[in-house]
Amino acid sequence: MTVSKSFRTLSGSSRLAGVMGWPVSHSKSPKLQGYWLAKYGVDGSYMPLPVKPENFETALKSLRDLGFGGANVTIPHKQAAMAACDHLSDRAKRIGAVNTVTFDDDGKMHGDNTDGFGFIENLRQGAPDHDFAKGAAVVLGAGGACRAILVSLLDEGCPEIRLANRTRKRAEDLAKEINDPRIKVVDWPLAPEALAGASLVVNTTSLGMVGQPKLEIDLAGLPQTALVTDIVYAPLMTDLLLQAKERGNPIVDGLGMLLHQARPGFHRWFGIDPEVTQELRDFVLSPD
Ligand code: ATR
Repeated sequence: MTVSKSFRTLSGSSRLAGVMGWPVSHSKSPKLQGYWLAKYGVDGSYMPLPVKPENFETALKSLRDLGFGGANVTIPHKQAAMAACDHLSDRAKRIGAVNTVTFDDDGKMHGDNTDGFGFIENLRQGAPDHDFAKGAAVVLGAGGACRAILVSLLDEGCPEIRLANRTRKRAEDLAKEINDPRIKVVDWPLAPEALAGASLVVNTTSLGMVGQPKLEIDLAGLPQTALVTDIVYAPLMTDLLLQAKERGNPIVDGLGMLLHQARPGFHRWFGIDPEVTQELRDFVLSPD
């Protein structure tokens, strides 16, 4: 067997990280972090780490004791990670979940949540002229993914967030927990009316995802200048985005949120703030 010269082995001082989930086989993180490791020629490795809920805390401590730099944490461990960490970033506390853990030299575990960062950075890259402080946002949904988005929009100075969820109580509970008067809960059937004068529309529901029903919303009342985005990225062009594009609204798809949320972890574990490029997007979407 001949080994290609470009083939890279790990050294004895390789930096290590990974993603803990159960299951974890669907995670795109190893592919995406692996791309950056190769691109920047880092002596390091990023692994899928299937960990059952009952083993989470022991496994996290073991990673630290094995010399890992840290780990991403995905479903169902995001709350358990919050409880296990010694220190939490302000945004992790406010979002109520941890998706990125870093171990320091003293063995302390630092928990952060980079989902809101990923959401904002995706919009900054895809719609650089968008001014978050300029107008109201309409946010559809109140599930797990929504909270980080609400917190990040408030941090960007969004003056008003109209929050609509099929189950109104869930939106009310979320608004109460975040406790910011800029969040106004609206009834799900009244979401089309709430589009009037808005400058941003975000779908955080699972509607429009492969295998899920479409998101049916009439955009007629939305100003044509309003930015429309979706956290669903399979398919990349959801019906919401197609409808918005057709009527002339600027759109940003959801893939970049996944890519940008991974940057802070890579930076901390491997020492480089990596770039999100078209080539990376194509690579992540390519069949395994
Ligand atoms: P995640 O944690 O991944 O966000 P989730 O907590 O199950 O997932 O949230 C899914 C979101 O999609 C919720 O806002 C959900 O609305 P409910 O809170 O009413 O369940 C929304 N959703 C899912 N199916 C829907 C449907 N058919 N119509 C409207 N909203 C729907």
